[in-house]
Amino acid sequence: MAERLDLKNLKGTWMIIKDKVYDVSKFSDHPGGFEVLADCKGKDSTTDYIDANHPDYVEEDMKKYYIGDVPKIHQDEVAKHKTENDAWLAIHGKVYDISKFTDHPGGAEILLENSGKNATVAFDTIDHSKEAKKDLYKYYIGEYIPDPNSESLPSTNYFIYIPLLALIIGIILNSFYFN
Ligand code: HEM
Ligand code: HEM
Repeated sequence: MAERLDLKNLKGTWMIIKDKVYDVSKFSDHPGGFEVLADCKGKDSTTDYIDANHPDYVEEDMKKYYIGDVPKIHQDEVAKHKTENDAWLAIHGKVYDISKFTDHPGGAEILLENSGKNATVAFDTIDHSKEAKKDLYKYYIGEYIPDPNSESLPSTNYFIYIPLLALIIGIILNSFYFN
């Protein structure tokens, strides 16, 4: 099995595109310029890559720079990291190592409380700013695989069916009225 990539300690100009990791340190003749690649360093750059409208043949070129897949991290592994010096948490399907995030504006305590688990709901409750969401990539270490036994899928919001229900009732009442 290929060695698992340690995203947090990866050196060089690397980036994630479509769940794959590329090291473009030596791609100084990138036709779009090296600067744009440097700006994507250490981030999930899938959107930037797509926005640049690369032609299909580039996918073949990319193989030269491929160094591995984004690690998949199971909940049981996340659960092992919930101490002050070793804290991981999951937000929206991604795992973050926040051990070194000592200056969280919301305080260190709340981060520690949410470590070792899926903190998506807690994170969203605060209505974090765009900047805060962008900052997440600094701590990104892998894709989150939830435990199917302990985590249910997001529950269906049945309120979305209310307009549909109202429409159906309207149609039924209408047909009675006109008959
Ligand atoms: C391993 C990753 C990448 C590879 C192999 C790659 C390769 C290429 C190639 C071959 C072209 C020329 C395309 C053509 O023939 O029109 C190109 C253009 C370009 N790339 Fe990338 N690219 C990569 C990542 C990125 C990323 C992350 C960005 C971020 C914004 C980016 C931005 C651009 C831009 C702006 C152009 C110029 C488009 C133009 O002038 O029309 N590339 N890239
Ligand atoms: C790596 C994950 C996180 C990052 C990067 C992050 C980042 C930030 C940032 C930049 C702020 C300042 C306000 C803003 O820009 O929105 C903030 C505030 C805050 N965060 Fe987080 N946060 C993270 C996780 C969490 C989690 C899991 C909780 C749990 C509830 C939390 C609770 C708070 C609270 C309570 C505040 C203060 C809000 C206020 O003063 O109005 N954060 N966070």
